[in-house]
Amino acid sequence: MKDKIRSLLKERKAIMLAHNYQPPEIQDVADLCGDSLELSIKASQTDAEVIVFCGVHFMAETASIMSPEKVVLLPRKDAGCPMADMVTPEALAKRLKEMPPMPVVTYVNSSAAVKALSTICCTSANVVKVVNSLDADEVLMVPDKNLAKYAALHTKKKIHFWDGYCIVHNMLTPEIVLLAKEKHPEAVFMAHPECRPEVLELADVVLSTSGMIRYAGESERKSFIVGTETGILHPMKKANPSKTFYPVSLDMECRNMKKMSLEAVVWSLENMEGEVKVPEDIRLRAKEAVRKMIDLSLK
Ligand code: 13P
Ligand code: SF4
Repeated sequence: MKDKIRSLLKERKAIMLAHNYQPPEIQDVADLCGDSLELSIKASQTDAEVIVFCGVHFMAETASIMSPEKVVLLPRKDAGCPMADMVTPEALAKRLKEMPPMPVVTYVNSSAAVKALSTICCTSANVVKVVNSLDADEVLMVPDKNLAKYAALHTKKKIHFWDGYCIVHNMLTPEIVLLAKEKHPEAVFMAHPECRPEVLELADVVLSTSGMIRYAGESERKSFIVGTETGILHPMKKANPSKTFYPVSLDMECRNMKKMSLEAVVWSLENMEGEVKVPEDIRLRAKEAVRKMIDLSLK
């Protein structure tokens, strides 16, 4: 199956990108694995003709926003992100009418239509930098309230937040974390900023998925409690074979990320099925918000 995918990728002049939460066999065959920021940068820079995106819908959509001339395939078109669905363009437009004018910082975990109404996008890797780059005292952040509350701790700006959250990260409670810490007192607790504020308070470090992988590699410490989706354990262990990683909870599994399979990738590449495309008027406005984020991150 993996050989078949590699030869189809060559035939189609395609690149395969996979998020750090994807099933191990998908990550092992991909050209590049990474967090949302790394994948969106790669998607905007590649000269491949086709991008096979192994992740969830908003990630493939972001690739299409940045590279409209390429065919972007999402082999499982039903792989969405429940948090991205917690803000619609209609609801955001209504809220904006009710508020004094201020910049809108939109997490990439959102639809293209919501990005099109935004000033700038952010990911878990650059949220603080993005918020602090804005020339305004108040900012609206959508859709993740936990990410917004995390950003609020690292800025002087007043942050207005939206009531969205990730169903996977929001289920993690301080009780679960304290149990894991009790079991592994020597371990560093790493948490993703989509976790609740009371969980982040217990974290030794708060990082994006790739940030966690890098941190584990650079740290002198040998063991880590991992406060994010369990798929990350595969690239983490692969990059750091001499270190030990404990998932904070095996229940932290994103069903949408796990829909992907080698079979689906083969089917998509063979039939050029699963294309994600954004209407041009929305794309042009959404691109501005993503472009500003990428430019700031590459500075
Ligand atoms: P990262 O950008 O940190 O990889 O996170 C993406 C995501 O969906 C987290 O739930
Ligand atoms: Fe969305 Fe959460 Fe799954 Fe990430 S882990 S894709 S934020 S539901």
